[in-house]
Amino acid sequence: MLYLPPELKFTYLAKNSMDLAADTYVHVFGMPPWNESWSHDLAKNRLLEILNIPNSINIIIQDIKELKVVGLVMGTCESWHHGRQFQIREFLIHYEWRKRGLAKILLHKLQEEVKSKGVVELYLSTSRKSEAYGFYTHHGFLESPEDALLRMQLV
Ligand SMILES: CC(C)(COP(=O)(O)OP(=O)(O)OC[C@H]1O[C@@H](n2cnc3c(N)ncnc32)[C@H](O)[C@@H]1OP(=O)(O)O)[C@@H](O)C(=O)NCCC(=O)NCCS
Repeated sequence: MLYLPPELKFTYLAKNSMDLAADTYVHVFGMPPWNESWSHDLAKNRLLEILNIPNSINIIIQDIKELKVVGLVMGTCESWHHGRQFQIREFLIHYEWRKRGLAKILLHKLQEEVKSKGVVELYLSTSRKSEAYGFYTHHGFLESPEDALLRMQLV
């Protein structure tokens, strides 16, 4: 079994924890390899948008005393022809809490949660340059030889 340290707890992301989650989001994605320039309000808006998608599942790891969000996974369940899928849209561990097994515990928690809702497959996109790519492949995610992520710049 995988357990959180006693000072941390799992909870669902809710409107009242959105500011704390946005703080962590801005911090994590402002660092390499992402170097993204999110404002607090824009990050909060993105997290709220995902939260409001029907069938989204949004779990956070929170520091019980400081209330800081130290881990987060967000995504959506969707119907697919061979069973329900879950798209991981956000996944992070606060820098200060990395390499202590929290991401593994969070992934396990997500797997249990979505399996209980009939999900048969997880999928996501990420950068090959990220720590996350190594983490996901270490945990059994496979890069699809058939699928491509396509983008078109409009502005
Ligand atoms: C990816 C991330 C979540 C990993 O968090 P973490 O707390 O350091 O990971 P853990 O300590 O739980 O790692 C658990 C296991 O994964 C392995 N692992 C972690 N990162 C790895 C990497 N880059 N390459 C290979 N294995 C890795 C660990 O060695 C450990 O293996 P073990 O269980 O066999 O001992 C974290 O680096 C992060 O938040 N990155 C920034 C956010 C991000 O990029 N999110 C993804 C956007 S899609």
